[in-house]
Amino acid sequence: MMWERWWLLVALFVGCHAVDRSNFKTCDQSTFCKRNRALEPGESQYHVLPDTVVLSDSSVTMDVINKQNDVLFTAEIHALEDNTARIRINEKSPLHPRYGVQGVLIGEPKADNWKVQRSSDGFQAVFGNSTAVITFSPFRVDFLVNNEVAVSVNNRGLLNIEHYRNKKVKEEQKPEEEEADQEGKEEEDTGNQEEDPNKEEGDIEDFEDDEEDEMDSPPTDDGDDEAGMWEETFKTHHDSKPYGPSSVGLDVSFPGSEHVYGIPEHADSLALKVTKGSTDPYRLYNLDVFEYELNNPMALYGSIPYMVSHSAAKTVGVFWLNSAETWIDITSATAGQTMLTKLMSFFKSAEDTPQVDTHWFSESGIIDMFVMLGPSPRSVFRQYSRLAGSTMLPPLFSIAYHQSRWNYNDQEDVNNVNAGFDQYDFPMDVIWLDIEHTDGKKYFTWDSGKFPASIDMINGVAAKGRKMITIIDPHIKRESNYRIHQEAEAQELYVKKADKTSIYEGWCWPGSSSWIDFTNPDIRKWWAEQFALDKYQGSTLDLFTWNDMNEPSVFNGPEISMHKDATHYGGWEHRDVHNIYGMFQPQATCEGQVMRSGGKERPFVLSRAFFAGSQRYGAIWTGDNTATWDHLKISIPMILSINVAGLPFAGADVGGFFQNPEVDLLVRWYQAGAFYPFFRAHAHVDTKRREPWLYDDDKLAIMRDAVRMRYQLLPLWYTVFWESSVTGAPVVRPLWVEYPKDQNTYPMEDQFLLGNSLLVKPVTEQHTSSVNVYMPGTNAVWYDVQTYEAYPGYRWASIATPLSKIPVFQRGGSIVPKKMRVRRASSLMVNDPYTLVVALDNKGKAKGQLYSDDGHSLDYKQGQYLVRDFQFANKKLTSSSGDPNGIYKTKEWLERVIVIGMNVSPASITISSDEGEKNLRFKYDAPKKVVEVKKPGLNISKDFVITFS
Ligand code: NOJ
Repeated sequence: MMWERWWLLVALFVGCHAVDRSNFKTCDQSTFCKRNRALEPGESQYHVLPDTVVLSDSSVTMDVINKQNDVLFTAEIHALEDNTARIRINEKSPLHPRYGVQGVLIGEPKADNWKVQRSSDGFQAVFGNSTAVITFSPFRVDFLVNNEVAVSVNNRGLLNIEHYRNKKVKEEQKPEEEEADQEGKEEEDTGNQEEDPNKEEGDIEDFEDDEEDEMDSPPTDDGDDEAGMWEETFKTHHDSKPYGPSSVGLDVSFPGSEHVYGIPEHADSLALKVTKGSTDPYRLYNLDVFEYELNNPMALYGSIPYMVSHSAAKTVGVFWLNSAETWIDITSATAGQTMLTKLMSFFKSAEDTPQVDTHWFSESGIIDMFVMLGPSPRSVFRQYSRLAGSTMLPPLFSIAYHQSRWNYNDQEDVNNVNAGFDQYDFPMDVIWLDIEHTDGKKYFTWDSGKFPASIDMINGVAAKGRKMITIIDPHIKRESNYRIHQEAEAQELYVKKADKTSIYEGWCWPGSSSWIDFTNPDIRKWWAEQFALDKYQGSTLDLFTWNDMNEPSVFNGPEISMHKDATHYGGWEHRDVHNIYGMFQPQATCEGQVMRSGGKERPFVLSRAFFAGSQRYGAIWTGDNTATWDHLKISIPMILSINVAGLPFAGADVGGFFQNPEVDLLVRWYQAGAFYPFFRAHAHVDTKRREPWLYDDDKLAIMRDAVRMRYQLLPLWYTVFWESSVTGAPVVRPLWVEYPKDQNTYPMEDQFLLGNSLLVKPVTEQHTSSVNVYMPGTNAVWYDVQTYEAYPGYRWASIATPLSKIPVFQRGGSIVPKKMRVRRASSLMVNDPYTLVVALDNKGKAKGQLYSDDGHSLDYKQGQYLVRDFQFANKKLTSSSGDPNGIYKTKEWLERVIVIGMNVSPASITISSDEGEKNLRFKYDAPKKVVEVKKPGLNISKDFVITFS
């Protein structure tokens, strides 16, 4: 029977303990990768036809010809506001429309005016504080920041667009039918170049040229019969490739830079490695690679085609908006070794300037690339967030601690776990239910034997101030009496096969399944409606969602995913939309959660797959890791890399998903997890139970302390998430983000900053009695948050790390808001008082911020929030409103102020506010140089000055 085969497959999945690499393609096995990688740098075949150039105030459109085959392309370059540019290249008259990604940009990017100056072979355009130098023959674009080349496009001549063509017909075959009938493809979806709306006749500059106009030459089809161009086979899987070869590729260099970051998700170092000549390129193709291998460029569950290059002089970013399978090769070079030399010496710099060369190629679609010209790390993050959005402001519970395993077996189990956390005084906000809670893996249902009264169960958990989460995957069980399947079939909500008519079927947890086509906005609306409380029976407003397996994972599909010739909304192939599919599901789920509450409550969704833009829909995690020290260690650079790429709400399974962690590993993982933006313990169904009280008391106590530390710092986390939602800055940051000139920090990946005030170096190695921590910043001072010991900046410090120690340091110059009264769940702390921890810098100054609101509703969008600015200078701590538009009336008040780094004891401390002036009690600890001020007592929304005389 089919079922037996299926379970055999599952057994294979869960039983093996190393990734089976043969399930996943190497570059050599992906023919477009092989073809593009084989291209050698040299003079590009692509040339601008100068008399097609049409300039407007902010953009240019021009025809580009591939001189090898006379195929014509339309290239556009746009100057965008905030030092950003966009390059789009499409076929001028493609045989079929080429896919341009929809749904990622938060709006049409705003144009910026540029000033154009003609040169002998192209032109220069000045915008923002950048210049674009566009060269016609061959085509290349260089972007200059402060007169230095910062980004060069096609300077190595690797631009390559495989134009659509008709398959050559062999003599004995019947002529093939024209395949141009991509009915239903909407104009807006095509990625075709539209007329520039800003273009006016009078703007057209006349570019004379003596080159022949070759626009009329027909495309030729030479070299199109290489193996793999018209069909491809991987293991037993056949890709019918009805449109033939269609890849797009381009090289991008970063002169003056030796470090590039981003392009997650890979289980690899934070600073990206050179791939050319050593490994496969970094691959972006959302895949279910359970128990993944470490330190290699293999694809994982999510893809963000966005890279940041950083050097002491500048930070810039490149965002390659393409959702097809993508690979990125990285080479390190010096400018003198490449074709950049001519231009570099023209402007500045020597030939031995270091640079990173990158080469991007995708299987289909158009070239649509954004260049963010910084020049600082923060400006690049902002520029990207203006395009793809920033993180949503999460509900408070979601940044607290989550308890999960595959599976909590039944209601009683859930009730016991809920009670256990109280019994052991261990804070916890959310209990998760994995696939076994359903009736036969039919999502939106409950196993009625195990969960006969799910609403009572959820209410029981909610009565303690907590939430629950159920898993809802994108594959739907093909069972005739299952309502979701019935509707999906009747209303044609499923992804189709290559024939565009029959429903795509495959195997996943429920057995035979089909996949909801989330790329269709109407289908997303239908999906959102399924979360209505009367539709999702047994759910309540305290139940949130986990979207797993949405790469999508198809157990019997190629690379455990969907066939690339399956078809989606608009007739697009799965090939075109693979990497974005997994973003549309949580998007629809979020919309459903907001709708079910009548637009009142914030949603929370955890997704496994992700793409650029996923930050708008909640959290992601790094998938099926393993309970080993190596996996604990790599979680830090993985999460940092995802943060650099604009998706801050990221975590890794605490404890490791596969296998059983030894207790010290689990303890260290809790300590690291307490500093992951998304903090969840989770484990495989075959692992031993791991609730913290199952370990010896001393270990339980240390895990509890780590979680309590997280809860005390929730005001800081919440403020940093708010800041990130406004500015696009990462929540956890590599050190170079805050110390951009300090070259020591560029390769660092085992320590990081939470916001700009805490420095964290989790212990990720076994038997570690001490760690060396790098304290960044010249003239800086850092204070151990537990001992208040001071460490000077720009130095290493050796820190003793008994099992109970998490090395965390507060920056002198910062003010951190905390809540010291930890309760069983974050919702119970909402009205609790604050402690402000003021850490003085060498000049006796400090600054900080606090964001607060009700923690769960969307009312903050109507001004129901408050922002406080705190400043310490001249022995006065001042609190003032950081945003007059915030009108939230809070009950929170100021309970305590701790000032670290105060060399002499104050004689008296007074507070003045609209309630008058009064003396405050305090305690001075001379050896530690710390003052603790007791009970200022004011509501936190009030202005005040505390004077230390
Ligand atoms: C795969 C996910 O990565 C894992 O976290 C989950 O427990 C299993 N699917 C079962 O749903």
